Amino acid sequence: MLEQTVQIVSNERDTDSYFRLVLRAPQIAPLIQPGQFSHVRVPTIKDALLRRPFSIFQVEDDTFSILYKTVGKGTEALSRMGTGEELSVIAPLGHGFTMPKRGGETPLLVAGGYGMAAMYLLAQRSPQRGIVFVGGRRRVDILCEKEFHALGWAVRVTTEDGSHGEKGLVTKPLQAELKRHAKGRKLFACGPTGMLRAVGKIAEDFNVPAELSMDEHMCCGVGVCLTCVIPVKTSDGWEYQRTCTEGPVFDARKILWEMPG
Ligand SMILES: Cc1cc2nc3c(=O)[nH]c(=O)nc-3n(C[C@H](O)[C@H](O)[C@H](O)COP(=O)(O)OP(=O)(O)OC[C@H]3O[C@@H](n4cnc5c(N)ncnc54)[C@H](O)[C@@H]3O)c2cc1C
Ligand code: FES
Repeated sequence: MLEQTVQIVSNERDTDSYFRLVLRAPQIAPLIQPGQFSHVRVPTIKDALLRRPFSIFQVEDDTFSILYKTVGKGTEALSRMGTGEELSVIAPLGHGFTMPKRGGETPLLVAGGYGMAAMYLLAQRSPQRGIVFVGGRRRVDILCEKEFHALGWAVRVTTEDGSHGEKGLVTKPLQAELKRHAKGRKLFACGPTGMLRAVGKIAEDFNVPAELSMDEHMCCGVGVCLTCVIPVKTSDGWEYQRTCTEGPVFDARKILWEMPG
């Protein structure tokens, strides 16, 4: 993990409110593992001390990129930055996905909205191809569909309003696929908490392993402040674990969705 000031190579709109930010970071780029994230300081806002966490989307030569949605003042300000400007980043952070093995379980990736960003490197580096299930509210929330195809993955698209792909939630075609064939498959997911919880339940119902990337609100991003903890099952009960350090990726069977009464 390194803290560095890096230069913006490009920062371009993808669809609607999504942007792709490419950063030149020759020391960070080679260290990145799929599912890890970066913590970015946006220098042009008042509370610039508070960094914003973003999954690492792509790595190419001496650069890495993030794919972000503008939702508030940090991301809005970030979207106004341009080529040549500098940002402070801490990266790579967190515990990422377990890489699928050649001849091992077939990976099924499940992504909702900007969760697709966390999946790209896994899809690219996995020695085994499988199926990517991508879901969003509307067509504009479906990101990198062509890029997943170009990597040789089958892609199943769902939108809630039916404007692209199958109408409904991303879990619908996932369940249908597992009904057809569940044995020897493993799920990897990133997206809104409701989606992750549903994927965890599906994994339990079909008795398939699953890894979920839990994107909780974060402050420090490096394990100090405990803002980001979630309850996780242990051999003798449960404990809080930090999504920024022990996560963001957790084995679905270990996540305690309801606190014990
Ligand atoms: C490990 C991790 C990886 C992430 N990866 C990505 C990514 O690849 N692309 C992307 O677009 N976003 C990602 N996020 C979410 C991103 O960090 C937030 O959208 C961002 O911090 C919002 O900053 P802001 O100043 O624009 O919004 P604020 O003004 O702080 O908040 C605006 C809205 O965004 C919500 N929000 C703030 N932080 C989060 C958060 N951590 N998760 C969900 N909602 C939040 C707030 O509740 C509020 O509704 C990730 C979050 C985590 C924890
Ligand atoms: S964000 Fe501070 S401990 Fe995780």
